[in-house]
Amino acid sequence: MSTPFLSVRDLRVHFSTEDGMVKAVDGLSFDVEHGKTLGIVGESGSGKSVTNLSILGLHHPDHTEIEGEILLDGQDLLAASERELERLRGNKMAMIFQDALASLSPYHTIGKQIGETYRKHTGASKREARARSVEMLTKVGIPQPNLRVDDYPHQFSGGMRQRAMIAMALVCNPALLVADEPTTALDVTVQAQIMDLLKDLQQETGTSIIFITHDLGVIADIADDVLVMYGGRCVERGTKKEVLRAPQHPYTWGLLGSMPSLEGPVDVPLSPIPGSPPSLLNPPTGCRFHPRCSFTERVGGNRCSTEQPPLELTAGRGAACHLTPEQRVEFFADFAGARTH
Ligand SMILES: Nc1ncnc2c1ncn2[C@@H]1O[C@H](COP(=O)(O)OP(=O)(O)OP(=O)(O)O)[C@@H](O)[C@H]1O
Ligand SMILES: [Mg+2]
Repeated sequence: MSTPFLSVRDLRVHFSTEDGMVKAVDGLSFDVEHGKTLGIVGESGSGKSVTNLSILGLHHPDHTEIEGEILLDGQDLLAASERELERLRGNKMAMIFQDALASLSPYHTIGKQIGETYRKHTGASKREARARSVEMLTKVGIPQPNLRVDDYPHQFSGGMRQRAMIAMALVCNPALLVADEPTTALDVTVQAQIMDLLKDLQQETGTSIIFITHDLGVIADIADDVLVMYGGRCVERGTKKEVLRAPQHPYTWGLLGSMPSLEGPVDVPLSPIPGSPPSLLNPPTGCRFHPRCSFTERVGGNRCSTEQPPLELTAGRGAACHLTPEQRVEFFADFAGARTH
């Protein structure tokens, strides 16, 4: 097996706050392969953004304790200096966010902003940078790019701004792109266009992508591998097919139950997961999902509330749950059957 392009090991990100220590990420490990897309899915507050901001080195050092290892192409990012991270950001790794308006400066033209990133990392002249901006705008499907390059962000529609942000992120051909819910704010048609664009660009450049979302439908469209996060930990991971077709963790079943079925009848009622996400100041003992899980009695005793289930992976596939493999298959079959009848 080849070495993964990005390897995260036992990542812990804790914030010290007035109320105490927020354990936003607590022992998370995963890999991203060359040229592949890892989808990270989980409810609000599960630690998706915090994880990825750690990769890019964007946490405020004063209030944040980060432990573990993040290896990008063999280089330990947690040991890298701020200067080195500056060099890597935009060049080797880049991030796109949900809100393009907040990431683009209102005072500079789109072309200038794309061009500045390019100049910073390549030392290109202004003329070369402008040509590169036009090239990138063409690539992301902006009409009349040689005119629109001189527009300000507010002159672009939401979908176009998102495209411009992708152009800016990809201008130096980063080997890793982190996309944090980049399509959540867009309508469904534009969302589909942006996802197609990312897939095309990935085909062309071989960029590895981490795609963060609440939405398993988006995962179904774009991911190769999937990581399901709950309360700062990974509860399940595997290939897209494994996680969507034969999920093993009751939390993943809950996520599936709260979205329209991919194949089944469209009129099946959606059932959101009862309860609310865990406090990260005082996370539940044992399995963090146990207060919301309907299978703790099937596990028996008080194991779920006292013993943290380990995430044991076989060829990258597994779930952190005390149910036996046979029980997982049986209970998921019941769940899926109940949904389609
Ligand atoms: N700087 C910080 N200081 C204290 N707590 C923080 C800080 N940043 C994030 N958190 C907390 O860490 C937890 C995880 O946040 P994170 O932003 O990673 O969630 P998320 O999975 O990205 O959620 P969403 O889907 O809403 O974007 C949350 O409880 C959040 O309040
Ligand atoms: Mg987030």
